[in-house]
Amino acid sequence: MRLVLAPMEGLADHFLRRLITAQGGFDWVVSEFVRVVDRPLPDSVFYRICPELLDGGRTASNTPVRVQLLGNHLDAMAANAQRAIELGSFGIDLNFGCPSKTVNRSLGGAILLREPDTIFRVVQAVRQAVPAEVTVSAKMRLGYDDASLMLDNALAIESAGATELTVHARTKVQGYAPPAHWDELARLREQLRLPLIANGDIWTPEDYRRCIEIVGTADAMLGRGAVRNPDLAQRIRQQSDTAATPWSQLQPLIGEFWQDVRRVMPERYCAGRLKQWLNHLRQVHPEAEQLWQAVRGERELKRLDQRIKAVA
Ligand SMILES: Cc1cc2nc3c(=O)[nH]c(=O)nc-3n(C[C@H](O)[C@H](O)[C@H](O)COP(=O)(O)O)c2cc1C
Repeated sequence: MRLVLAPMEGLADHFLRRLITAQGGFDWVVSEFVRVVDRPLPDSVFYRICPELLDGGRTASNTPVRVQLLGNHLDAMAANAQRAIELGSFGIDLNFGCPSKTVNRSLGGAILLREPDTIFRVVQAVRQAVPAEVTVSAKMRLGYDDASLMLDNALAIESAGATELTVHARTKVQGYAPPAHWDELARLREQLRLPLIANGDIWTPEDYRRCIEIVGTADAMLGRGAVRNPDLAQRIRQQSDTAATPWSQLQPLIGEFWQDVRRVMPERYCAGRLKQWLNHLRQVHPEAEQLWQAVRGERELKRLDQRIKAVA
């Protein structure tokens, strides 16, 4: 069983990656995407998106971080992949799932799922640019409009030499609307030699059990479920029956998170960052709903300090 923390741009930044991986259970984590246009990026971009590279490419709890690249320019993808590895990334992950209009307009992310040949060339360019022992993985959705090219895309990724493939069990058009279509992943797995990592709507250990039973692989990537319940991977490993992280365990984490954010982020972003996480937590923790209600209109950092200190 391999459990991976999902890339989540603007949400699973290094603060949450550190906090979530510290709860244990994750084998590696994928960074937010690095957007590649047509040239090598300065090191500062890699360090901004993945500050763990300054710490040996691992989170504070020693979990390896894999830099994710998004783009279609072969030379630029190859050069940036090479640089990410030199800077200490544990492998390269390639993004073929991002639904953003801006990104798709410039032929990056999910739009490439309409072009299996382009996907093949991107994966091949990156595979050839980094040493053979370096993991090159890809992450895709079932398709763009529908799943008709799912197998072609996955086989393109496999034959271009990728090491593993994560599939978010929805098309781009399906966005994030439930349910995730795990049955499609089962269909795909039967036709691939490449190890498949299942992703989409694993919120509880019970969801994980149902997902792997349907898909037929034990490997899974956890996204929003781990944001809402940071010890989800650990509870999956322990075959726990509890659906949520106990509030008493979350309280100190909220305090730690706030201290980290306060120490590192420019003041004008701190309140928003806290509220964004609380907004996720309140979906499953009634106590977080109360806290969110108490802080949602608050922008004064000193008062937020007091509020958080009172609960965490
Ligand atoms: C806020 C947010 C940002 C995301 N950013 C990325 C990203 O940068 N790269 C990527 O491959 N997927 C990204 N995703 C998709 C997730 O990695 C994952 O595939 C999706 O959330 C489904 O998994 P889940 O149901 O476990 O959350 C993002 C998802 C969310 C909610």
